[in-house]
Amino acid sequence: MQREIFGKVDGKEVYKYTLAGDNVSVDVLDFGATIQSLYVDGINVVQSFDTAEDYKLRDGYVCGVIGRVANRIAKARFTLNRQEYKLTKNEGDNQLHGGLQGFHHKFYEVEEIENGLRMTYISPDGEDGYPGRLVFTVEIILIGRTLHIEYSAISDKDTIWAPTHHFYFNMNGPIGYANSNQLTIYSDYYTPVDKKLIPLGYKADVTGTSFDFRMGKRIDKDKTELGIYDHNFMLNSEHAATMVGDVSGLKMEVYTDMPAMQMYTGAGKEETRNAEKLSDRGGVALEPQFAPNAINMDGFEKPILKANEEKRHYIRLEF
Ligand code: BGC
Repeated sequence: MQREIFGKVDGKEVYKYTLAGDNVSVDVLDFGATIQSLYVDGINVVQSFDTAEDYKLRDGYVCGVIGRVANRIAKARFTLNRQEYKLTKNEGDNQLHGGLQGFHHKFYEVEEIENGLRMTYISPDGEDGYPGRLVFTVEIILIGRTLHIEYSAISDKDTIWAPTHHFYFNMNGPIGYANSNQLTIYSDYYTPVDKKLIPLGYKADVTGTSFDFRMGKRIDKDKTELGIYDHNFMLNSEHAATMVGDVSGLKMEVYTDMPAMQMYTGAGKEETRNAEKLSDRGGVALEPQFAPNAINMDGFEKPILKANEEKRHYIRLEF
């Protein structure tokens, strides 16, 4: 495995680690456990920035790890064991992607393991409002043409935890648009949302709607009420999605043991802090996860982590 200095964030060196498989290679940063690039047959299929500062300064959580809890928590609060916890708010009254700090802007301790890396971050009790000192690890393993990402967490208090990687994929790479990729999502139900993107609390059948990706279609074929997709799909099984570049012909299969997946196609529209935009070619976010706000909704699997019990989740990408 190779390691080199990628740049600096807050005066600290950011290292880039490169894993190589069978015509697939992945660059991983110790800042945010970020997948900085993912080359498949010579094509980078994820949105990338060239400098370390970009990963700190620009919006979009580009290909970083998300924690403690991915997506939104309404009113930035939840109740566990009859106690209410107040989280940091970073999107109006709500919390998005872990809060003001978030795991995507942390430095990770890196260990080499067979065919990959183990990255660790210890989140102190109360960080971003969450109970428990949480030992969080991400293993990134590349074997052949399969990238396996395994998350684990253990906390000294009952808490909640629901990780993801905020990938932006474009199987066409620089030779074509992301929104013209062919996408299949193996999901019979999605979660309709209000204007602040908080689920209304029920699952809706995708049949006959723009959310029906079961037979595969061009991502931009249909429109939603938001103009873009920024919606969560409940997954039928561990096989979450298939994405094929219409220009490159490259194919990716996405698997996860988490119950849901967010699709977000707004990257081209998103203003960044330095007033640039992620390009239209930047990619479509597919984020395996728990349903947004699951901790506050009946009828959804809740991401509860019991004290001193290790939990694991995975995302697997096959090319
Ligand atoms: C959210 C979007 C958000 C994006 C980038 C997605 O997971 O659903 O609303 O703009 O992340 O921050």
